[in-house]
Amino acid sequence: MKNITVIGTGYVGLTTGASFADMGNQVVCIDIDEAKLERLRDGIMPIHEPGLQEVVVRNMNAGRLRFTTSYAEGMRDAQFVFIAVGTPSDGHGGADLSQVRAAAKSVAEHLDHPVIVINKSTVPIGTGDLVTAIINEHKRTDVPFSVVSNPEFLREGSALADCMNPDRVVLGAINRDAAEEVARLYLALNAPVIITDLRTAEMIKYASNAFLSTRISFINEIAGICEALGADVKQVAKGMGFDSRIGGAYLDAGLGFGGSCFPKDVKALMAMAAEAGQHPQLLQAVMEINSYRRRWVVERLTERLGPLEGRCVALLGIAFKPETDDIREAPSIELIHLLQAAGATIRAYDPAAVENAATATRNVRFADSPYEAVKGADAVVLVTEWNEFRNLDLARLKAMMNRPLLVDGRNLYDPKKLLELGFEYVGVARGFSSPSPSPEHVETEIILQD
Ligand code: UGA
Repeated sequence: MKNITVIGTGYVGLTTGASFADMGNQVVCIDIDEAKLERLRDGIMPIHEPGLQEVVVRNMNAGRLRFTTSYAEGMRDAQFVFIAVGTPSDGHGGADLSQVRAAAKSVAEHLDHPVIVINKSTVPIGTGDLVTAIINEHKRTDVPFSVVSNPEFLREGSALADCMNPDRVVLGAINRDAAEEVARLYLALNAPVIITDLRTAEMIKYASNAFLSTRISFINEIAGICEALGADVKQVAKGMGFDSRIGGAYLDAGLGFGGSCFPKDVKALMAMAAEAGQHPQLLQAVMEINSYRRRWVVERLTERLGPLEGRCVALLGIAFKPETDDIREAPSIELIHLLQAAGATIRAYDPAAVENAATATRNVRFADSPYEAVKGADAVVLVTEWNEFRNLDLARLKAMMNRPLLVDGRNLYDPKKLLELGFEYVGVARGFSSPSPSPEHVETEIILQD
């Protein structure tokens, strides 16, 4: 059992704190937002994340997880201090480090015994050195401390499961003993541990997110080519994925990536590269391809409906991905702005993100069900592949619409079934164009041999 302090109760901080408490450690989470902590103490989570509430409440009740706004209290017995605060975009493509700086300064001011300070936030290369410098500048006693970089790779929507089953633990440090001490915190998870220097660890995080973003933009570029040449991108991705050198993950073509990480991190890496005199051409293309995916929807709708002025378009899904209420950089938000600029009226439904979407959009009519959302609509766009949308009563959906035009932005539906039901179906490069599949269109079959 170790005493662990986590600064920040966002996705990464709260999940990290809850996971370490669940592994039997004594955890204190520090946050400056007392109202948020008050709700947490009442078992109300600030984010929609499967399983999180149960683990937080269980560990609070067991006395292993506490929340405080006081650094004095949070630092009192700490052996390990994780910095897991936000690093939003600074508006110029770089990362805003003000919360990291403030956390490092507060840690320094309350440092009266040796601790290991661990950067879990996604931070520009060199931030480990910056945190070391800030603590040295502001510490009031001459106690030793070490700074370790330990980037987090969890995904929203499966944060807890990812945190408890990491593919690897990355640790960067000047002092190898400190990295090994942090490695021992993860022993129970049985994950490979990579120990390296601070800057390399920080870069592993950016390179990983940039690579996954590149895979998505790659398959979206292939989708465009498939569309022009009549191939089915879903089957192409499946066929590619069986190559063990390629693998099948992050090859779903669609409306592109969103969320608080991929767009921000690719842009931050580009900014770092440019500052270092490099020309990140591939990353530039990744962002351009991603941005086009939202315009692709408007083009498809205009192709079928003509000018969108006065047309009613319904969106199914607003969250940037399923199982979250997060709408940061969500394709839906950009799409809403593009459609409104073209004169369309928007209705939308999402199982979790409506409250957040209401603050980020104007003149959108939010519905309580998918069926209500499409009532009288000239088209519906499937934006987020929530499970709820897999089992819709599609005949009922169609009956509610003014025109049964469905743009399947995540290739969720079987085109043949939709066409049989009488929809005008537009998928992402499904190997044919409506109104009907070409006669030679066959589903790819996987034949397993003993
Ligand atoms: C991502 C990474 O996957 C995590 O490893 C990382 O820790 C996290 O960023 C972070 O840096 O904090 P996350 O943003 O939660 O996690 O979501 P993902 O599941 O990776 O999806 C990102 C976006 O890519 C979503 O908009 C999703 O719809 C899109 N996507 C994903 C595709 O368009 N196609 C795919 O094949 C996969």
